[in-house]
Amino acid sequence: MKKKIRFMDTILRDAHQSLIATRMSTEQMLPVLEKLDEAGYHSLEVWGGATFDASLRYLNEDPWERLRIIRKHVKNTKLQMLLRGQNILGYKHYPDDVVEAFIEKAIENGIDIVRVFDALNDLRNLETSVRAIKKYGGHCQMCICYTISDIHTVDYYVRLSSEMVKMGADSIAIKDMAGILTPDIAYKLVKGIKEITDIPVQVHTHATSGISEMTYMKAVEAGADVIDTAVSTFSGGTSQPATESLGIALEELGYETGLHFDNIKEVAEHFKPIKEQFRKDGILNPKVMDVEPDTLIYQVPGGMLSNLLSQLKEARKENLYEEVLREVPKVRAELGYPPLVTPLSQMVGTQALMNVVSGERYKMVPKEIKDYVKGLYGTPPGEISKEMREKIIGNDEVLLMRPADLLKPEMDNFRKELGDLAESTEDVLMYALFPTLALPFLKKRNDPFYDIEIQNVTVIL
Ligand code: CO
Repeated sequence: MKKKIRFMDTILRDAHQSLIATRMSTEQMLPVLEKLDEAGYHSLEVWGGATFDASLRYLNEDPWERLRIIRKHVKNTKLQMLLRGQNILGYKHYPDDVVEAFIEKAIENGIDIVRVFDALNDLRNLETSVRAIKKYGGHCQMCICYTISDIHTVDYYVRLSSEMVKMGADSIAIKDMAGILTPDIAYKLVKGIKEITDIPVQVHTHATSGISEMTYMKAVEAGADVIDTAVSTFSGGTSQPATESLGIALEELGYETGLHFDNIKEVAEHFKPIKEQFRKDGILNPKVMDVEPDTLIYQVPGGMLSNLLSQLKEARKENLYEEVLREVPKVRAELGYPPLVTPLSQMVGTQALMNVVSGERYKMVPKEIKDYVKGLYGTPPGEISKEMREKIIGNDEVLLMRPADLLKPEMDNFRKELGDLAESTEDVLMYALFPTLALPFLKKRNDPFYDIEIQNVTVIL
């Protein structure tokens, strides 16, 4: 019997989020949705925080409507989304009733598989999501955020996975958001997880450092069931490696992929002029295609490296770049090794920058870091020393309970605040998650001239 490996394509989510700041519109996706449906994928990733945000912010699109349109045209292939657990699609904790209502509606509007993660891998922040995904009949894919540190060993992740299995995970995803998962560790991780459970294991990485195909190869050898790739047109660089090339290579090695390459070729062709337009408009920055071995050396996401550099440039302190890079791992260790995923990557980066630029470590501490040390984001993976804690929050108390237990139900309040503007629970959720974007969007929907300033209207007689 042939060995099997299935593919999830990220073309409708992570691929364009990584390369063109999530600017692909529903209209640009529409002509190839049936082709994608018939291409033999395990699933298509179609939704996440950035797609929701960018739909409202830049495209004047209702993100719920996009999901319904995709579902209408993709009848057979499973649709997948990325959920930040108790943070839903944002960066703060929401009350349980909002999390549950969101998951109910996401599944009702077409999502089959919910990939859910917590930035700190604190499982308490996933409890409500898991319960709701199961309740509304979704496939619960629990996700480990991969990072490198003294405590984030293969054993640590295998233990975490076995806890997830106990919580009711239908599959496990290894999420390497930074592209720092090496082939050797990928092999050991997948092998280790496969030894404790029979549920499917899916692997997610980025091509940033130039080793993603090797990483997938070893993950597949170790028994991974699904890998995340992108249709070639929007593959490589900070996106995923190309579906077609990996598919062809793995088939030659004796794996059955189920992919229909003719269909994918048509999809790739469709996106070529669209990519060209994004390049001309300057939205596709050629830098995102550069190979970044530095991500392996410093073990921090490529996006974080470029953010730090541009912040230093703005302050005319580029000369401190190396020093800040050396400070990042120190800060991270002192803060109990948080994974460098949003929002913690930005928080750790800012603290490192402040430590170096101000000339005195922890002289300035952002509020987010204080909240983190107080336990408001969850339990840090490692220990924060008493000395560090006192330096950052003085004698303030550290919260030991699940952070969302502090929050009262909010859906009714959001419903009241929105009043007549809300036509559905989906509208209320849009407002709950992105109030400053949802309000103008919903007002505009009722009145097409809503945002046109009077002085800009030319009256033609
Ligand atoms: Co990703």
